[in-house]
Amino acid sequence: MSEVISNFYLMKQTILITGASTGFGKLTAQTLALGGHRVFATMRDIKGKNAQHAHHLKQWAKDNKAKLEVVELDVTSDNSVASAKEEIISLANGQLDVVINNAGIYGGGITESFTITDYKNFFEVNVFGSVRVANAFLPILRKQGSGLIVQISSVLGRVIIPFGGVYDATKFAVEAINESLHYELRPLGVDVSIVQPGPFPTEIFEKVFQPANQSVAAEYGLTTQLMGGFFEYFQKTMSDPAIPNKPQDVADAIAKLVETPHGKRPLRVVVDKIMGGTTEIINDTASKVQAGLLQNFGLNELVKN
Ligand SMILES: NC(=O)c1ccc[n+]([C@@H]2O[C@H](COP(=O)([O-])OP(=O)(O)OC[C@H]3O[C@@H](n4cnc5c(N)ncnc54)[C@H](OP(=O)(O)O)[C@@H]3O)[C@@H](O)[C@H]2O)c1
Repeated sequence: MSEVISNFYLMKQTILITGASTGFGKLTAQTLALGGHRVFATMRDIKGKNAQHAHHLKQWAKDNKAKLEVVELDVTSDNSVASAKEEIISLANGQLDVVINNAGIYGGGITESFTITDYKNFFEVNVFGSVRVANAFLPILRKQGSGLIVQISSVLGRVIIPFGGVYDATKFAVEAINESLHYELRPLGVDVSIVQPGPFPTEIFEKVFQPANQSVAAEYGLTTQLMGGFFEYFQKTMSDPAIPNKPQDVADAIAKLVETPHGKRPLRVVVDKIMGGTTEIINDTASKVQAGLLQNFGLNELVKN
C-alpha cells in the first residue's frame, strides 16, 4: 500500500451507530470515540425512556474529551431517520464515513406462537430499520466514493436453532441484503461488512420480545419441555461471569473493521468463542460457492479484492 493511502486510513473517521443506548452499540460508540473517531451515537427516545442513557453517554464523552454526540434516531420511523440525517449532516458538514447498523430486538419461543403482528414488529426493527438507515445514508457514501456500512447480524444469521425462527429469519434477511449491497457497492468504493456475534451477555436479554400466542406452547408437549431446558441452560450460560464471550470483543471487532483499509475489509466477521466454529464453516463454503456463481454470471469484478 502506498504511504498516501495508508495515511488516509490512519485518518479519523466520522461514524454513525444505531442502538447506542446499551450493549454492543454503546460499547462500540465509546471504543471508537476513544480511538479518536467522531461518533454520532444514536438512540431512540432520548427525552423519554433513554434519557438516562443519553445523559450518561454525553457525560462520559465530556469526562473523556471524546468526540461523541448523542442523536435521536428510531430506526422504525422515516421521519426520525430523516431528522437524524439532517442533524448529522449539519453537525459534520456533510461528511460521513461509516454507518453501523446495530439496533435490534431479540425474542424466542415456539415459532407458531409468534403472530403476524409479532413478525412485523421484528422485521420492522431488525430488517426494515437497517434498510431505512442504509438507504438514507448511502447517497452520501456513494457520492464520496468511499465509506463503510457495518451490519450487525448474528451467528443465527447462518445457523438455525429451534425456538429462534423469527429472530433468525430477520438475521438471514440482513445477511442477504448486505451481501448483495457488498457486491453492488464494491466498484463505487464503499465497503459492506457483516459482523456475526455469538451469544453475548448484553441488555438484550432483559428486553426479550414475548410472542403473543403463548397458549400454543401447551400443545407442543416434548418440544415445549425441551425448549424449557434449552432456555434454562442458555440463561445459566449467559449469567456465568466466566462466559468467554465478552461484549467488548464485538466492539473491538467493529473498531478493527473501521480501521482496516478499503478493499481489505472482509465481508463477514464472526465474533464468538462458544459455538464451535460452526458459522465459520458455512461462511467459508458459501464464499466459495458465491465466487463461482458470480463468475459464471460474468460478475467476477464484483467479488475481486
Ligand atoms: N447479545 C447477543 O447475544 C447478540 C448476539 C448476536 C447479535 N446481536 C445483535 O447485536 C445488536 C445489538 O444487540 P445487543 O446485544 O447489544 O442488545 P441491546 O443492548 O438491547 O442493544 C440493542 C439496541 O437496539 C436498540 N433498538 C431497539 N429498537 C430500536 C429502534 N426502533 N430504534 C433504534 N434503536 C432501537 C435498543 O434501544 P432500546 O434500549 O431503546 O430498546 C438498544 O440500544 C442487535 O442487532 C442484536 O440482534 C446480539
